[in-house]
Amino acid sequence: MSGAQPETPLQRQRARTIFQKGAPGRRAFTCPALDVPAADPEELLPAQLRRREPPRLPEVSEPEIVRHYVSISKRNFDLDSGFYPLGSCTMKHNPRLHERAAALPGHARLHPLQDPARAQGALELMWRLQEALGEIAGLPHVSLQPSAGSHGELAGVLLTRAYHESRGESRTKVLTPDTAHGTNPATVTMAGLQVVKLATDEHGGIDLDDLRAKADGEVACLMLTNPNTLGVFDPNIEEIAAVVHGAGATLYYDGANLNAVMGFSRPGDMGFDIVHFNLHKSFTQPHGGGGPGSGPIAVSERIAPFLPVPLVVRREDGVFALEHDRPASIGRLRGFHGNYGCFVRAYAYICSLGADGLKDASENAVLNANYLLARLREAGVAEHLPLAYGELCMHEFVLSGGPMKRELKLKTLDLAKRLLDLGFHPPTVYFPLLVEEALMVEPTETETRETLDDFARAIAEILREAAQEGPEIAQNAPYSTPVRRLDEVAAAKRPVIRQAL
Ligand SMILES: Cc1ncc(COP(=O)(O)O)c(C=O)c1O
Repeated sequence: MSGAQPETPLQRQRARTIFQKGAPGRRAFTCPALDVPAADPEELLPAQLRRREPPRLPEVSEPEIVRHYVSISKRNFDLDSGFYPLGSCTMKHNPRLHERAAALPGHARLHPLQDPARAQGALELMWRLQEALGEIAGLPHVSLQPSAGSHGELAGVLLTRAYHESRGESRTKVLTPDTAHGTNPATVTMAGLQVVKLATDEHGGIDLDDLRAKADGEVACLMLTNPNTLGVFDPNIEEIAAVVHGAGATLYYDGANLNAVMGFSRPGDMGFDIVHFNLHKSFTQPHGGGGPGSGPIAVSERIAPFLPVPLVVRREDGVFALEHDRPASIGRLRGFHGNYGCFVRAYAYICSLGADGLKDASENAVLNANYLLARLREAGVAEHLPLAYGELCMHEFVLSGGPMKRELKLKTLDLAKRLLDLGFHPPTVYFPLLVEEALMVEPTETETRETLDDFARAIAEILREAAQEGPEIAQNAPYSTPVRRLDEVAAAKRPVIRQAL
């Protein structure tokens, strides 16, 4: 692969922002002349809220707009163009049937303030989705309100707090394993509680001694992902539940990894009190880039009185309604009722697969991950990228790039960037934090065997290239993408999201 090529006029043109394109007076659309009396601006918006001058908007033709957005869309890597094994994110295929269902005018154009009497179909869909999710979780009471996994976590911590307060207890600590997703401790802090870290044992599960030592009367809850972010299902889950409940605390299930166990084990049966689902992961939704997501929660009997309002209920006469009258509720978590398009897609997924299909999906997710792991071992990758914990995995696995860094001078980041040149989105890197140079791979059930084989070959090829031709090629990758290495820390901390005019 050669280095950077000189910039072509076409590349320069594509690099321009929409504000740098067009010309004064150019228009993409011309409105017909007004044939009704013009509205009085004063009546529409009070003067103090109006701009003195119109905003400076781009002035471009329709073809310029279309080319602008199409070209931006092509500059990104997406699931519809290639393998996207981003660990923990479950980037599985989004069936087009669900997109069609969500786009039906009756769904897509429904107004959130529609009178419930005239939105019975939508409310029924939401109610049926609640019932299905309750069954999948093994916890009967469901709220669809939270808009992301992390939002579900916040709901869960607030519910836990409300539960303890209702018993006259003020518990301030939340236990999170050191494998936890960053949103878990962040949520706890946001809710005003204190994070207490739990150690991981040599098998990748919770260190039971550490748990026993820390589970005291100040602990409100333990937040746990099972299987966890190492791709390990904790075999001690019953013991963990007993210790946590014995201390009077609740058990919260971060359901981001539910894709591994649907139909096999239910968080409620494992002893969890509160669960969030990531509909945008396990239940096929387009995600990434910030939304829209959906993170419903399911809870046990003792937590149910505190659920957010309104709840979607079916009254005895069969009419669906929004129930606001719940005196112990933690209140509303957002405006309106949740991301409805996500509900339609998730419900379509559940209906089209059925109980057996969901189970198959999980089984194949685990099979695909183990198949890929075996192919990587077969390709001789394990010497430089060993599995961090255990021998087998659930739906994802974490490799350690420590030996690769020491022996081949390749960091995990270099490997990830080089993968882009070979046509693959990199796996998650540097997470979980307790694994040196972590590479977290989640292939998902919707990938073919050929794709998994190609990916294993690509990793082996990058290692071979570094060993035989030196690490510099990967260290300077990628070569084929619209932008090369970015300062990712600066991009996250000081994002420049608009062009100075
Ligand atoms: C294990 C785990 N927990 C929680 C979350 C948070 O979910 P969301 O991104 O929907 O807020 C994620 C998502 O990346 C995750 O992987």
